[in-house]
Amino acid sequence: MKPLHDTLVTEAFRIELSAPDDFEGWRDAARRMICANVPPDRVTWESPVDQCADLFAQGDRRLPEPPADAPQPHASRDFLQLAHSVILHSDSARFSVLYRMLWRLQSRPRLMEDKADSDVRQIEDLARQVRRDTHKMRAFVRFRVVENEAGEHYVAWFEPEHHILRANAGFFTRRFTAMRWTILTPRGTLYWDGEVLREGPPATRADAPSGDLVEALWRGYYASIFNPARLKVGAMLKEMPRKYWKNMPEASLIPGLIAGAQAREAKMVKAGEQDFGELPQSLDAIGGALLACRRCQIGCNGTRAVMGEGPKSAPLMIVGEQPGDTEEAEGRPFVGPAGQLLRTHLEAANISIDQAYVTNAVKHFKFVMQGKRRLHQNPTAGEIDTCRWWLENERALIKPRVVLALGASAARSLLGKTVSVQKVRGEPQLLDDGSELWITTHPSYLLRLQDHAQAEQEVKFANDLRKVSARLRELTV
Ligand code: URA
Repeated sequence: MKPLHDTLVTEAFRIELSAPDDFEGWRDAARRMICANVPPDRVTWESPVDQCADLFAQGDRRLPEPPADAPQPHASRDFLQLAHSVILHSDSARFSVLYRMLWRLQSRPRLMEDKADSDVRQIEDLARQVRRDTHKMRAFVRFRVVENEAGEHYVAWFEPEHHILRANAGFFTRRFTAMRWTILTPRGTLYWDGEVLREGPPATRADAPSGDLVEALWRGYYASIFNPARLKVGAMLKEMPRKYWKNMPEASLIPGLIAGAQAREAKMVKAGEQDFGELPQSLDAIGGALLACRRCQIGCNGTRAVMGEGPKSAPLMIVGEQPGDTEEAEGRPFVGPAGQLLRTHLEAANISIDQAYVTNAVKHFKFVMQGKRRLHQNPTAGEIDTCRWWLENERALIKPRVVLALGASAARSLLGKTVSVQKVRGEPQLLDDGSELWITTHPSYLLRLQDHAQAEQEVKFANDLRKVSARLRELTV
C-alpha cells in the first residue's frame, strides 16, 4: 500500500460500531483511519453482537486524528455496493475484511476486477450469502393473524442467518402497507402500524402465534400453484430448504403433494392441459394470495401486486396490461395518467366505470430504473401467460357479459395467443364462457402519440368504446 502520507501509524485501535449492520459507522471510521494511515492489522472492530474475539486485544477506543492535509480515500462504486451487503453478514470478520479491501483499494483502484484475489473472492462470497438470505426472507416470511384491541394484526416468525432485518424493512412496509404487522426474529423485531415502523428487541419463537385463517389461505394458495409436471424435488429443496419449512404453513402439504404428483401429472397429460389447481372461492382470496405470487420474475421484483376492483357481478370487465408506477404506489388499477384518459373516454361513451370490474393481465409492475424513475417495461408473452391464471379466476367469479381488452397484452391474456389489435378491434369475439370480448388499443398508446396520429387514434378508440357501450345496453336490459 502506498501511504496516503508519510508515516504509517503503529498504535492499535478498537472501533465500536453502534449496531451489527452499522454501515455508516463502519464507513466513517474506516475513512478516518485510512486518512490517518492506520494499517488493517492495527484495527479491531466490535459491534453489540460482534465482540472482539481476542479478550486481551488492546487499542485506543478513540478514532485517530488524520492530518489536516490528508487526501480523501477513494473506493469504487462496485466495492461500496458490495460493502453495503457484506456489512449485514453474521461473520464477525466482515468489518476487518472490508477495511483491508478499502486499504488495498487506495493503491490498486481496480482491485475489484481481480477475481482471483482472495479478498475480492471473500467479499463477493459474503455478499452472495447475504443476498440469498434476503431472498429467502422475502419469499418465506409467513404472517399469522391475531386479534388485539386495535383489530387484526399480522405476526410472522423468521430466523435470518444474517443481520438483514432492518435492511429489508422497506420491502415489507411497501408490500404490506395496508396491514398492521410484526416480524419477530432472534436478531430483532420490526413493528409496522400502517404508518410508522418501529424496531424492537430480539424475540423467541414462543412469542409468535401459530395456526389461523391466513395459514389456510397459504395452504390453498400453495396447493393451487403447485404444478406436478414441473416437480423437481432437488431443485425445490435447494430453493426452499427444509429449515424454513417449520414456519411455513404450506410446508405440511409438501410430502403429500410430492407423493401425489405423479398421479396428478398423468391426469394432466391425459387431459392435455396445464394444471392450475383449485379455483379460489372469492376475490378476497385471490387478492390475498396474489400478494405472495412469485410465479414469474415480475412477481419477484419487490413491488406490490395490484388486484382488480369493482362490483362483484359487474356486467363489464375492463382488462389493462399491468399496473403502472402510480397504480403500484396506490395499490389500485388505472389511477394514473392512462386511467384518467380511460375514464374520460368511458364517460364520453356513456359507460360508467363504477359498474365495471377493472383489472390487469399482469398483476405486478414491470419496470427498469432510470435515475430515480421507474420506467414501464412490456411483459413478455411468458409472463402474461403465467399471470393468466389469476385473470381467469377473476373472470370465473365475476362472470361479466362483456370483456374489454385494452391493448395486445390484455388480448393475449384473454385469448391465449397474440393478435394484432388493429386487425381485430371493433368486432366482438366469443370467449369460452359465452362472454363477448372486445379488443381496442391501450390508453397509454394514445398518450405516447402526438398531433394528428394521436387525434386519429383517439377517434378510433372512442368509436370502439361506443360500440361496447351499445352492446352492453343490449345485453343488460
Ligand atoms: N396501465 C394498465 O394497463 N393498467 C393499469 O392499471 C394502469 C396503467
